[in-house]
Amino acid sequence: MKIGIIGTGYIGLTEGLCFATLGQNVICYDIIKEKIEQLNKGIPTLYEENIEQMLKDNLAKKTISFTDDLKVVLSGSEIVFLCVNTPEDPKTGECDLSQILTSTESIAKMSEEIGNPFFILAIRSTVPVGTNKKVKEHMLKINPKLNYLQCSNPEFSRQGSAIYDFMHPDRIVVGVNDEKCKERMALTYKPLTDQNFQIFFTNIETAEMIKYASNTFLNIKIGFINEIADICEKTGANVEDIAKGMGMDKRISPMFLKPGPGIGGSCFPKDSIALAKMGNKLGLDLQIINSSVTSNIARKNSLAGRVINLSKDNNLEGKTVSLLGLTFKANTDDTRYSPALNLVEELAKKKVKVKAYDPHGIEKFKFMVDKSALDSIQFFENAYDAIKDTELLVIITEWDEFKKLDYKKIYDLIAQKTIVDFRNILDEKEIEKIGFKYYCIGKKI
Ligand code: UGA
Repeated sequence: MKIGIIGTGYIGLTEGLCFATLGQNVICYDIIKEKIEQLNKGIPTLYEENIEQMLKDNLAKKTISFTDDLKVVLSGSEIVFLCVNTPEDPKTGECDLSQILTSTESIAKMSEEIGNPFFILAIRSTVPVGTNKKVKEHMLKINPKLNYLQCSNPEFSRQGSAIYDFMHPDRIVVGVNDEKCKERMALTYKPLTDQNFQIFFTNIETAEMIKYASNTFLNIKIGFINEIADICEKTGANVEDIAKGMGMDKRISPMFLKPGPGIGGSCFPKDSIALAKMGNKLGLDLQIINSSVTSNIARKNSLAGRVINLSKDNNLEGKTVSLLGLTFKANTDDTRYSPALNLVEELAKKKVKVKAYDPHGIEKFKFMVDKSALDSIQFFENAYDAIKDTELLVIITEWDEFKKLDYKKIYDLIAQKTIVDFRNILDEKEIEKIGFKYYCIGKKI
């Protein structure tokens, strides 16, 4: 099938490559010309395992191409996936639909210009319930002769494993209002349903809500285990065994029960806030959802205090700590809502300096961190340089390479011989054998 992708960000690019690899003919569009030029040269614009090879292979096979000309996409695509960003509106906390509205406006106008060929528009971006309806009204107002069908097709891919998640979906959710659209969407996903991956058809509003409900539910699940971890730190119960013991119950499942420094990324924090706001607008007081938002912010803001309380004399003023990890999780270069941002900004307020290293996140972190904190942080090209001459070491992202460092060598590089591991990635016994004081999440301090 001929597939058009609007918005070549995380989802647009990885899924365009996946569809191409599955044998579909894909054309990806983006308004950023430099991005298109870079991708046409075979250079990925984001970090994801195997992405470079996939891009090169599909460009060579001509199963994918990139353009900044919307006309090319609309004149040749049977299905157009809308994959633009729907970030948090910083003023209201609601979902900012400006990219959805401007891109669908362009689609409606361009379609008219080229004689209104038939296509299906699948909205893949995360949008609040009712958005598809609004988008349709908006597009038909601009171009009443628009010859298209629209459906909601939320994505469930995680950054860092977006390609794997797309190729091995737990479910493909499609919200449709008519049979023709349903048939076409079934055909688009046939390469996956032929491998027994399931497709779930429902109505449009329900599909929109499945996405918010899923992300917010997982946000609540992680927030819950983080609170259990806090109890463990005061009582001697072991949070990892608790997660294991709970997870054995099939109704609970062991997935997304890993405690950590708080939840980051461009999805869970903003989607939970947006869902809470949706409730507000409907006159509902959604207490569980609201507190999952506030408890996560509180957790991330508490990290600096936790580190200071674990230092000698509970005081790090004027001193330097080393920080391993800046991205919101491993295997991505994304630092949006990363707990490392809160940690560095709060430490800066308390006049604590930071030497930091991350294998892929430095540039994006510099862009995201509050400018007032930039003076107190230095970035390094490798972990050992970041650790040298610091008081203690903090690990905040679970990169594999941090597990493989030479901790005997690190012992001589840090003054207070203390490691704070917010991801529980190190072997407690091994680390303590070297002589470190080792603090991790959810074990007695
Ligand atoms: C999330 C969802 O997992 C995807 O299904 C969804 O498609 C995506 O949002 C989206 O809406 O586009 P993502 O934001 O990439 O994916 O990251 P996750 O792997 O879900 O992790 C989110 C945060 O929770 C990270 O900060 C991670 O470190 C944290 N986390 C996750 C934990 O602290 N513990 C866990 O057990 C799992």
